[in-house]
Amino acid sequence: MSDDQLIAVKPAIAATAHVTVEQHAAMTQAAAADPEAFWGKEAGRVAWIKPPTRIKNTSFTGDVSIRWFEDGELNASVSCLDRHLATRGDQVAIIWEGDNPASDAKVTYKDLHARVCRLANALRELGVKKGDRVCIYLPMIVEAAVAMLACARVGAIHSIVFGGFSPDSLASRIQDSECSVLITADEGRRGGRTVALKTNADEALRTCPSIRAVVVVKNTGAAVPMQAGRDHWYDEITTGQPAQCAPEPMNAEDPLFILYTSGSTGKPKGVLHTTGGYLVWASYTHELVFDYKPGEIYWCTADIGWVTGHTYIVYGPLANGATTLMFEGVPNYPSVSRFWEVVDKHQVNIFYTAPTAIRALMRDGEGPVTKTSRKSLRILGSVGEPINPEAWLWYYRVVGEERCPIVDTWWQTETGGILISPLPGAVAQKPGSATLPLPGVMPALVDAEGNRLEGATEGNLVILDSWPGQARTVYGDHERFIQTYFSTFPGTYFTGDGARRDADGYWWITGRVDDVINVSGHRMGTAEIESALVAHPKVAEAAVVGMPHDLKGQGIYCYVTLKTGEEPTEALRKELVAWVRKEIGPIAAPDAIQWAPGLPKTRSGKIMRRILRKIAANETEALGDTSTLADPGVVQELVANRVG
Ligand code: WTA
Repeated sequence: MSDDQLIAVKPAIAATAHVTVEQHAAMTQAAAADPEAFWGKEAGRVAWIKPPTRIKNTSFTGDVSIRWFEDGELNASVSCLDRHLATRGDQVAIIWEGDNPASDAKVTYKDLHARVCRLANALRELGVKKGDRVCIYLPMIVEAAVAMLACARVGAIHSIVFGGFSPDSLASRIQDSECSVLITADEGRRGGRTVALKTNADEALRTCPSIRAVVVVKNTGAAVPMQAGRDHWYDEITTGQPAQCAPEPMNAEDPLFILYTSGSTGKPKGVLHTTGGYLVWASYTHELVFDYKPGEIYWCTADIGWVTGHTYIVYGPLANGATTLMFEGVPNYPSVSRFWEVVDKHQVNIFYTAPTAIRALMRDGEGPVTKTSRKSLRILGSVGEPINPEAWLWYYRVVGEERCPIVDTWWQTETGGILISPLPGAVAQKPGSATLPLPGVMPALVDAEGNRLEGATEGNLVILDSWPGQARTVYGDHERFIQTYFSTFPGTYFTGDGARRDADGYWWITGRVDDVINVSGHRMGTAEIESALVAHPKVAEAAVVGMPHDLKGQGIYCYVTLKTGEEPTEALRKELVAWVRKEIGPIAAPDAIQWAPGLPKTRSGKIMRRILRKIAANETEALGDTSTLADPGVVQELVANRVG
């Protein structure tokens, strides 16, 4: 595949697009020339109690301070709900599609507003105040969106933990931000199975003294133990509450949410987003990138436990008065046609999913797709990991029948929303490239020493200046924020990704350059998996790296050194896989475990991961320089016993 395969902007899309080729250039120019004026105007996308007069006050050096719209006041739930009531109160805000294809629901803006107010009132009765942290551990049910917006309404900071995370993972996140309330459900449903959320929560809460109250949604109706005085049924505390609730006035820089994400080292970080800039960014990017028009049905298949669900299921679409589809299930249940059946059933116009889902569906061929109509589709999106050109072209040809532009959107939990992506009416696409930065985003490439690289080249991806949706800090640890993102290449935000810029100025994300791996679009820290492994009584040492994986993008490859006297058996291998699943969650289950009598280390004891990555990838001819190893013999042993 040549880089130069251009998929031109489609005249039919360009004719009605929010942004045309000329406007894209003009906006890019305007945002760079006068960010204050540009973002001052874009701030008008959200409903302010007090409109901001100070627009941008940001510094990537020293203590790193990022402030946008800092004298403005607003409440995110008002922008997402109240202001739509007069014009589209009876329009559907959320289409909910259950795991079971026979169950669905439609919630209008008026209904959603009332439901949010009732829960917000109930939270206030439970003593939740502005600035308190509320943990949400829910499946993909409407109450998840209600819970987010109810927190926003009362000024509480929500911290959503993905329903697939283990009790331990839930507990450490609750402890880190000292949440006072947990909102969960009896059980979740996924792919015909149930997930024991309340049981997991109870186990987690044994070590979470900060939790005063637990709100439990009756979802499947399974019998779950309720602890008197602590646990409350969602229905009981919300029924009878008024359908109005005074929104808490928030400063633009008051926190909206914390979301834990994995990094190179240590425990997951609580990435903190604030109210004004985040919401402006969510609205701006959702409207431009998906070219959203009033009345369109928009579907993002992510889970609200990830940032994509935050920004592109809830905040962006609702701020824009959209109809957003929320899907409880999985792509292959009850059959591999499910995505396309849902598209037809609800006449979805804009569809946003992950490359891993596309690759999995490709395996089953075109039949399960082409037996559905998909005529409603107008725009297709991709997120979470690099999309290989084969998957891109299959998505384009088979799913979108060459009618729908594909927006390959590059961004991160820390960026709040999309930074690099085509706009459907303005940017020609190249399969596998995220194309161009959005107006107002300034990416650059630097070499290992931090020198700026110009022209067509490859390097480390940094962003030169702030944008409103950027994370402000790591909750409770601003120093870690500075160290992680602003110290590697001082004066810039370091993304942790590598990228290539081609001769047309198009950006190609090549993947993480740090010890983060991307498994099915889920971000995992290798250090987290290593610490789970060494917590097992028979494990002495472990090193974890990513390996290429056809479906998942990257798989998890573990080198494990057992304690003296322990036997490396198949039973133990299975036990370790189950152990990691239990410690972190099913998404962290190792794909390969290699018994390693020794690990390649430098004389100072540092594990040489570069070599381990090469062995895992079966690139053993090109191991590079091994002369600095304390014991080069270790490498031969590992190469000889490579698994997979
Ligand atoms: C990767 C998800 C290539 C990247 C929104 C990034 C991508 C990490 C793309 C962030 C894309 C995300 N092309 N790579 N379109 N989108 N990534 O925080 O490595 O879960 O750093 O945010 O996913 O993952 P996160």
